[in-house]
Amino acid sequence: MKELLAETAVRAARYIAAIGDRKVVPGPEDIARLGALGGPLPENPCEPAEVLALLDDVGSPATVATSGGRYFGFVIGGALPAALATNWLAGAWDQNAAMKVMSPVATKVEEIVCDWTLDLLGLPRNAGIGFVTCTTMANFSGLAAARSALLHRVGWNVEEDGMFEAPPVRVVVGQEVHVSLLKALSMLGLGRSRVITVLADGQGRMRADALPVLDEHTIVCIQAGNVNTGAFDPAKEICARARAAGAWVHVDGAFGLWGAVSPQFAPLLEGVDAADSWAIDCHKWLNVPYDSGMVVVRDPEHLRRALAAGSAAYLTQDAGREPWQYTPDSSRRARGVELWAAIRSLGRSGLRDMIERNCRQAKLFAERLRAAGFAVLNDVVLNQVLVSFGSPEQTRRVIAEIQADGTCWCGGTVWQGHTAMRISVSCWATTDDDVERSAATMIGIAKSAQAG
Ligand SMILES: Cc1ncc(COP(=O)(O)O)c(C=O)c1O
Repeated sequence: MKELLAETAVRAARYIAAIGDRKVVPGPEDIARLGALGGPLPENPCEPAEVLALLDDVGSPATVATSGGRYFGFVIGGALPAALATNWLAGAWDQNAAMKVMSPVATKVEEIVCDWTLDLLGLPRNAGIGFVTCTTMANFSGLAAARSALLHRVGWNVEEDGMFEAPPVRVVVGQEVHVSLLKALSMLGLGRSRVITVLADGQGRMRADALPVLDEHTIVCIQAGNVNTGAFDPAKEICARARAAGAWVHVDGAFGLWGAVSPQFAPLLEGVDAADSWAIDCHKWLNVPYDSGMVVVRDPEHLRRALAAGSAAYLTQDAGREPWQYTPDSSRRARGVELWAAIRSLGRSGLRDMIERNCRQAKLFAERLRAAGFAVLNDVVLNQVLVSFGSPEQTRRVIAEIQADGTCWCGGTVWQGHTAMRISVSCWATTDDDVERSAATMIGIAKSAQAG
């Protein structure tokens, strides 16, 4: 075991050391070689070192270098050194983080991370947190708490009696709602299409003046950080209206909520702390390994009631917080460990620096692209940049060439009718040099496409 783990460390360190020198995406020949991992079902055992070598030799070249400094697709963070290292240790522990009796350390670490996160993000100090896999599940969990709370108020026990014949629940979303929130609604029996959709402005912010009349049967889903523009819905106004009407506000804050750690960006989030539930991603901007997200609910009882399992004699209940009562899953890995390590290693100032650095780098991209004559379509308020290289066809062609070049990677989108390339700067490892090199490549490719 010792030799195997040492060999793993050597191979992993080699992978990471080379990540800045390779193409961000694998070549077709690397992908073709993946067939070597398959073949007929192995009938007999094989040495673990051989298994490791096969995966590294064949698998590593076919990875996308998302943990390097020049991947700007979707919203994807890397893995901070302390988070990656503790992820390995926690792998060796192989703890089941469902219950305190199964893992005192996993439970304690989660309690610490709850306190630190609420402090960092300025959220209510008594809120409850569930440690989930991603924002989609955080949205699901927060909306499950919302559904439970609103129906509980009118005497309907949705956990026992389900949604058939339940009193109606209205759901309000913005025009630029993230598709994962709609997925969460569909999984909860609230329906993707029966939402009331509120118009958004040119940056994708929900227009508070277009809100319908709210009441105590309504869940309003707002966004902190639009996936295309980075823009924030006007939380202060919407939360005040919702509170006065007895409605519930859920915030999809996947990456944008981390902006609260910086005094520079905190004003964009004004009033967000007055909501009732929040979904946050940790594998994005906190830069912990996949998969990791958090759901935060102002009154932990609503989250617990929505997600707690029934009783079974062999599942002992201790006093205090039992992690599995706050998540959709029961058995799960100790993902709180990496959150603890990321926050412990960065501290408040390190996290603030990382967020501010990425946002400054997004502005640097925008400056370089504008100076080269290309249109930046959004106000760069956070870490997201949308750029057009001309006509839709031209923009799509430039994106394809940038992706094939492999210096960096960005995806495409259509923003309010305009075809654009998205740049998301979300990785701790991105340097200003990475930005300059990537911007020069983008501009070079776009200019020759123009000339051609
Ligand atoms: C605003 C928003 N919500 C939800 C998600 C979905 O996140 P995940 O893939 O972690 O479920 C994203 C992903 O980028 C996002 O930007």
